[in-house]
Amino acid sequence: MDSLKKTSVPSVRATKVCVVGAGYVGLTAAVCLAELGHSVVCVESNPQRLAALLRGEVPIHEPGIDELMNRHAGTERLSFTDDVEVAMDDVQVVLLCVGTPPRPDGEPDLRQLGRAAAGVVSAARGDVLLIVKSTVPPGSCEALELLAAGHAREGVNVVVASNPEFLREGQAVWDFFNPDRVVVGIDDPQMQDLVTGLYPAQWPLVLCDRRSAELVKYAANTFLAVKISFANEVAQLCEALGADSQKVLAGVGLDARIGGAFLSPGPGFGGSCLPKDLGGFIAVAQSVGQSAPLARAAQVVNSEALDSILRKLEVALGSLQGKRITILGLAFKPGTGDVRFSPGLGLGEALAQRGVLVRAHDPVAAPVTTSMELVSDPYQAVVGADALVIMTAWPQYRELDHERLREEMKGHVVLDAVNVVGIDEVAHVDFDVYGVGRGLSTDFAPVLWPPLEWMLDSEPHNAAVSR
Ligand code: UDX
Repeated sequence: MDSLKKTSVPSVRATKVCVVGAGYVGLTAAVCLAELGHSVVCVESNPQRLAALLRGEVPIHEPGIDELMNRHAGTERLSFTDDVEVAMDDVQVVLLCVGTPPRPDGEPDLRQLGRAAAGVVSAARGDVLLIVKSTVPPGSCEALELLAAGHAREGVNVVVASNPEFLREGQAVWDFFNPDRVVVGIDDPQMQDLVTGLYPAQWPLVLCDRRSAELVKYAANTFLAVKISFANEVAQLCEALGADSQKVLAGVGLDARIGGAFLSPGPGFGGSCLPKDLGGFIAVAQSVGQSAPLARAAQVVNSEALDSILRKLEVALGSLQGKRITILGLAFKPGTGDVRFSPGLGLGEALAQRGVLVRAHDPVAAPVTTSMELVSDPYQAVVGADALVIMTAWPQYRELDHERLREEMKGHVVLDAVNVVGIDEVAHVDFDVYGVGRGLSTDFAPVLWPPLEWMLDSEPHNAAVSR
């Protein structure tokens, strides 16, 4: 696979590593570190997940992981266990990759991290370097070092370093081997090489103190969230003015100072990281008396994206009570089966609360939900539907047979929240397509503004000044 071609080039000094947590971050790190030549033992406490891993199965949908599992699992390069004592035998370097989910107030729940650190340090017979990959508020590494030291045997030293993970779901293996940067925060110069040495020397490195490293992750994800929310705000404006957001944002993104990535408007960002880290950034700012107005605005715009979809459906269908609406796409983005903070799932639940009969299709995601009926074929999913809403930009939704969809549907409303339907392609089909920032039905007539008088000599010259 392409993502691995570059891995044959860089070399590292082989190190014994214990990875705690076999979720997206931990499992990716474990198989990729094994591929780099390290000897990895991965600790997973969930019995079902561990059993799957021991059978050589990959419990998450992530391209490239299967291949690396096949190559290394069961060899001296990669093993799995739930026994920390076994895992810590003759191991100094530990990667902590456990979850830091948001609490209701937006602040992260760090209890899994505390438990993981206490567990490995209690089992260690020699000095330990704990490397925190999980996303944590600045200051956490210092606090964890204090906590972990309390669990260490006599004479065992514990050092905690920060090495935040930036991988994207669906591209995790590619991102691991092609990092924009490796960020390492460590205050103990003697241990520094143990962290940086895990990665090839050619990879771009940002070496700093622990608080700065921790903040890089929050700030990067907050910036991405702000960028997407800006794109959504521009798209809303395009709808009101009759402009095409795809052209506008393409024009904006071609400015090299801005860049086109993360400027696609849509149903709002979801997933396990952007909403959580944006909330975490705000909580961190508030903890030191700052209000983080930009970050809070990004949150507001993101929640309005779902409101806008509901409003469009109401304009198109009238009362939603008793209507049949089909959602295509429940994963929070294409390429993953993850539905955490998924706009598609959120919409389904909001529609069900309004008395809508919701059916949904997703090529990968299969959430446990009572709000909607899951159907395995997109054409069957739309049978008898009053409206179709596309919520995830899966490639297969770009290839849909629109005539067939129209035949199966009762109504003709298509709400394309991810702009995958070509307006020209459906021109011959009896569809009313509502996109995001484009392709609107006449229900959303653009306003005429500014008034013509502003261009006429008869307008008093000082009008603008006095206004
Ligand atoms: C993100 C960061 O990109 C990654 O660096 C970090 O480590 C984890 O969080 P991920 O959550 O996997 O990765 O998904 P990402 O590709 O960033 O997309 C996040 C959300 O933003 C998705 O809901 C996606 O659909 C949305 N998005 C992305 C947009 O709405 N518009 C865009 O232009 C880009």
